Amino acid sequence: MKKVCILGASGKLGQYMVQHALDRGYEVVGVCRQKSVHKLERFENRIKIIPGATNDRAVVEKAVAGCDGVLTVLVPWGVQQYSSGTAQAVLDFADDGARLIFSCGWHISRDGQDVYSRKFKLLLSVVGKIAKLLRFVDLDDQVEACRRVFASDKRWTVVRGSDLEEGESQGLPVWSRHVGDAVLASNRTRRIDFARFMVEALDNDDLIQEAPAIVGCQTPSALEHSEES
Ligand SMILES: NC(=O)c1ccc[n+]([C@@H]2O[C@H](COP(=O)([O-])OP(=O)(O)OC[C@H]3O[C@@H](n4cnc5c(N)ncnc54)[C@H](OP(=O)(O)O)[C@@H]3O)[C@@H](O)[C@H]2O)c1
Repeated sequence: MKKVCILGASGKLGQYMVQHALDRGYEVVGVCRQKSVHKLERFENRIKIIPGATNDRAVVEKAVAGCDGVLTVLVPWGVQQYSSGTAQAVLDFADDGARLIFSCGWHISRDGQDVYSRKFKLLLSVVGKIAKLLRFVDLDDQVEACRRVFASDKRWTVVRGSDLEEGESQGLPVWSRHVGDAVLASNRTRRIDFARFMVEALDNDDLIQEAPAIVGCQTPSALEHSEES
């Protein structure tokens, strides 16, 4: 891994990923909206920034060219296929053989075997419907984005984040294939560690075509159950 592209570099997760990637000595190309370029000021002269929407196919084509890895923050903003447009552009334009890592939440299920609490399902349904009605967020489009990734034969990993919190790193999160597994019960991960999992996945072939659901390695459920997961 020498050169990586980060789509959504100016967000909270994106900025942590930029730092992790630089710490590993990678050359970094970041994509973010023009109005957010200033959020990356502290990385000035250390990364190349391509301003633009992450679902702009021309922007993505330019950004991923020559990259060994692409880290994509999938976000369901608006109702203009933001997530699915971004994912499709990455699948279409990333170099053959590049490692493609996508972020999303636990609500994405690859095989339908995830077990969600009633509270989680109710919240998702109510918030999802209201947000879509207000044309603010389209969770279905994030589902569609991941469906396209899962159907692809590329070297992808979809990292499914639990609820997130800020704070110092606690170490690499642990993961499991299905939400509902005991190891994930604490449902809490530090955002900095989510980013680390994303960046370390670039070099972890065991995660190719996997959709790990992650949780902080110091959470009670991880401490109690990670040996057996
Ligand atoms: N938040 C959680 O609790 C949570 C839980 C589980 C999983 N996740 C997953 O973690 C990832 C990062 O989520 P995050 O909540 O931590 O957010 P984040 O890292 O701050 O990322 C948000 C991204 O969305 C962009 N964005 C914001 N408003 C936008 C708009 N109106 N149009 C287009 N782009 C817009 C931001 O770009 P700008 O910098 O330009 O604003 C940024 O790149 C996502 O894949 C999410 O599904 C989050």
